[in-house]
Amino acid sequence: MTARKIIIDTDPGQDDAVAILLALASPEDVEVLGITAVAGNVPLELTAKNTRIVCELAGKVDVPVYAGCDRPLGRDLVTAEHVHGKTGLDGPNLPDPTMPLQDQHGVDFIIDMLRSNEPGTVTLCPLGPLTNIATAFQKAPDIVERVQEVVLMGGAYFEVGNITPAAEFNIYVDPEAADIVFKSGVSIVVMPLDVTHKALVTKPRNDAFRALGTPAGIAVAEMTDFFERYDKEKYGSAGAPLHDPCVTAYLIRPDLFSGRHINVEIETSSELTMGMTVADWWGVTDRPTNALFIGDLNADGFFDLLTERLARL
Ligand code: BDR
Ligand code: CA
Repeated sequence: MTARKIIIDTDPGQDDAVAILLALASPEDVEVLGITAVAGNVPLELTAKNTRIVCELAGKVDVPVYAGCDRPLGRDLVTAEHVHGKTGLDGPNLPDPTMPLQDQHGVDFIIDMLRSNEPGTVTLCPLGPLTNIATAFQKAPDIVERVQEVVLMGGAYFEVGNITPAAEFNIYVDPEAADIVFKSGVSIVVMPLDVTHKALVTKPRNDAFRALGTPAGIAVAEMTDFFERYDKEKYGSAGAPLHDPCVTAYLIRPDLFSGRHINVEIETSSELTMGMTVADWWGVTDRPTNALFIGDLNADGFFDLLTERLARL
């Protein structure tokens, strides 16, 4: 099988970093055409910097990195330093990047890639707010039907919310953008909190990363050491949830995941439930199916894959 062409759209974020490392370590499965940064966990300047730090940690300095949108479509940016730390990548002590940021805007890169590759051969992998993707769809509506699939981390049904009682962070930050993407007609796979909260870095799993003894393995262990305190305190969970790596793991081993083809709508008007993913998991409406909503994963298989691939870097 030929490697699937992907564009990662991201706001690193420790879990974004692990998702990127997994993709960059798996060239036989995914060809990373480029990485676009978006404002989310921390402001754009930091997500664009962190993306390059992660590429350099992987030893992949030739991957083009672009800065995209610095704020949501129609509202102020909400960030998550309370989860990810001041830099967004708190934990390991990693050097500032020396690889360049590309001059082109991330949104224009997404548009160009979709226009210049065969239709149906480029997959978009958003790991943060959907601002860049929605902006690209608005600016160049012709690209929508050229997208192979959007595989994204965002939303929740059973787990409801993490940034508000009703909403997950990525969707909450830019609900209008999410609404555009979910209504676009593009094929969508969603990794909601329902599944990502099952991808927990327990102590033995973290020990396995550290035991790799490589800069990437040790950095991932240190990132999850830092990142876990938030979910441990909040949910009493066994370790850090690896939200975003569920996206890249799905591209490599979809058999590790299971879900349902359902309708998902985004709340964009109620202040109380803003950004909620109203997921018709039980099929109680006749709204049309627009997403494969993942609910479960084989966690041991996921961590085996991750550890095996990180060992290559
Ligand atoms: C999502 O929000 C961010 O904090 C994480 O990087 C992840 O993409 C989880 O709600
Ligand atoms: Ca993210």
